[in-house]
Amino acid sequence: MSRTHFIPRVVFTLVASFSTMASFAADTLPRNSDEPLAMLGSQLYFDKNLSINRNQSCATCHNPAKGFVDDRDNGVNGMASLGSDGKSIGDRNAPTAAYAAFTPVFHLKKGEYVGGMFHDGRANTLADQAAGPPLNPAEMGLTSKQLFVDRIKENPAYVIAFQKEFGAKILADSEKAYEAMSQAIMAFEQTDLFMPFDSKYDRYLRGEVKLSQEEELGKTLFFSEQFTNCNECHQLSRSPIYNKETFTNYQYRNIGVPENVELRQKNGVAGKDFGLLNNPAVDEATAKGKFKVPSLRNIAVTGPYMHNGVFQNLTTVIHFYDKYNNPNRKLNPETGRAWAAPEVVENLDLATLEKGPALDERRVNALVAFLKTLTDKRYESQIK
Ligand code: HEC
Ligand code: HEC
Repeated sequence: MSRTHFIPRVVFTLVASFSTMASFAADTLPRNSDEPLAMLGSQLYFDKNLSINRNQSCATCHNPAKGFVDDRDNGVNGMASLGSDGKSIGDRNAPTAAYAAFTPVFHLKKGEYVGGMFHDGRANTLADQAAGPPLNPAEMGLTSKQLFVDRIKENPAYVIAFQKEFGAKILADSEKAYEAMSQAIMAFEQTDLFMPFDSKYDRYLRGEVKLSQEEELGKTLFFSEQFTNCNECHQLSRSPIYNKETFTNYQYRNIGVPENVELRQKNGVAGKDFGLLNNPAVDEATAKGKFKVPSLRNIAVTGPYMHNGVFQNLTTVIHFYDKYNNPNRKLNPETGRAWAAPEVVENLDLATLEKGPALDERRVNALVAFLKTLTDKRYESQIK
């Protein structure tokens, strides 16, 4: 075999693996749910034995039957999650695990942070993310990676599957075995169960259904730059034929969400949540108070809203945005009192939030009706 034959192959391999990384998100997903690695991930995702008290799995806080969020009340109106210990109440609302596979890795682009998992982007990939909860004392609470391996070894089917996917010695090394778990869960989170793209909006794009007049108005308002500012943050692609819209640009913004006082009375957390500034990779003062723009897919069935679950319903969220432009929106409709001040006053994105005219009731309702069309088919009956 000649050298000249060898060199181009290396180049080809490099280019191929680079382009897979770059286009990873939209083009190569979803994976097939019958891939052995994804099937192992599925078992792990639903397995309560991976929590210290054998009472909690990923699915507990990211329930596939409820838009992949924590639909338990947890004594706090669902505003935050409860750990395996039955005591620890978190300070953040569990985001949906659906469509999360499209999130780019955390990076800087033109001076703006983009991507990453969690509300502050501190985990790079779904696998990095999945490595967190089992050992987090406030979540699944396993005390060591070795304890994780011991739990895996209790189940002969796991032993066979781990060895088949990762080699005969995989369970002898608790670091590697733990990493293997996170790879398998990531593979499962990349399957079509997590991204069916079959909401009314998707069916409308494919020409299968029509939107009602109200939904159509909501869609126009949402995407217009004249009547609202929504798409400055909640739109990934401006291409009119893009059919994998996740309704977020994955950037970080401070929109002025107030502290959740009711939650903090129950979880005892003091101080402020600085969002992006809590990410260990970030130290600029301009990051303070910014949170990742969330996807709006399945939003009608995944309340309460915002990183701290401070709003219970979608109409409130629209009123909250409208207060920046509408002198008549002085009251939070859920409390009947004036809107509370932002938790973090620095870095408020007023330049964007104060763009656009006030919304009347008809437009508020139309936006809510449009957001409801982003609900995957299997949850449509849960829309209130
Ligand atoms: C006790 C509840 C709880 C458990 C158990 C739990 N999570 Fe989460 N999850 C959360 C919360 C809360 C956040 C947000 C935390 C933050 O931003 O600091 C989160 C964030 C995430 C995200 C980030 C989504 C995004 O768009 O940023 C993913 C993905 C995820 N979890 C998947 C998992 C997987 C996989 C497991 C099992 C290994 C798991 N979670 C176990 C509560 C939980
Ligand atoms: C300046 C950027 C920006 C603009 C403009 C914007 N949003 Fe948001 N949106 C965000 C961020 C950031 C969050 C998350 C804030 C948090 O967690 O504290 C959010 C949260 C939400 C949520 C709650 C999501 C959840 O899972 O809890 C909804 C619903 C929403 N936005 C809808 C809209 C609509 C509708 C508009 C237009 C009227 C709009 N947004 C305009 C950045 C923006």
